[in-house]
Amino acid sequence: MSFKSGRHFLQIPGPTNVPDRILRAIDQPTIDHRGPAFKDLGHEVLDGLKSVFKASGPVIIYPASGSGAWEAALVNTLSPGDRVLLFETGHFATLWRAIAERLGLEVDFLPGDWRHGADPDAIGARLADDTGHRIKAVCVVHNETSTGITSRIADIRRAMDACDHPALFMVDTISSLASIDYRHDEWGVDVTVGGSQKGLMMPPGLSFNAVSDKALAASK
Ligand SMILES: Cc1ncc(COP(=O)(O)O)c(C=O)c1O
Repeated sequence: MSFKSGRHFLQIPGPTNVPDRILRAIDQPTIDHRGPAFKDLGHEVLDGLKSVFKASGPVIIYPASGSGAWEAALVNTLSPGDRVLLFETGHFATLWRAIAERLGLEVDFLPGDWRHGADPDAIGARLADDTGHRIKAVCVVHNETSTGITSRIADIRRAMDACDHPALFMVDTISSLASIDYRHDEWGVDVTVGGSQKGLMMPPGLSFNAVSDKALAASK
């Protein structure tokens, strides 16, 4: 491999380049992951993360990229054969679909044109038709990294409430968390999926589920 001078500058939608301030903060000697210092650090991080999601409930951290947190959201709250409603906003919504199908979920994929966010009216109409409540979860990408399109999460929540549908609401904020306004509690989201390496501007390898009481109850 030839030697490249200068600092490598990654120019893709993510991982983002990690700011120097953050690089300096993580340039620390290793600590004992079973010792008291790690326990204190863990509690501080688990607690501090809540404000990033604007969530009052727990935020779970996974040693995985964002896709791992997607998988965790689905397997911990749903069972094979359950039906989920997804909206095609772009590449990442399409990947949600692939993961859900591989896990044995039945996917209702509302078509989109990759130019607009998830349509609250279309989601509301599909849920209103589902009088038997077969749909167990609605999954939407907040910011579709592949297209730059942002979906209106609060409006989708309102559409779900308007037909009084009990489905869980799951939102992928992997590229929006900490860079676009996001409110887990206020917008009534049950599982918010996040990742470390985009809006949060940290290295890849950590991902998150902020969970509501309803999602926790579904996981039992
Ligand atoms: C919106 C969105 N969802 C999901 C993913 C998948 O995350 P990861 O590549 O960390 O598994 C990405 C990024 O790749 C993304 O931008």
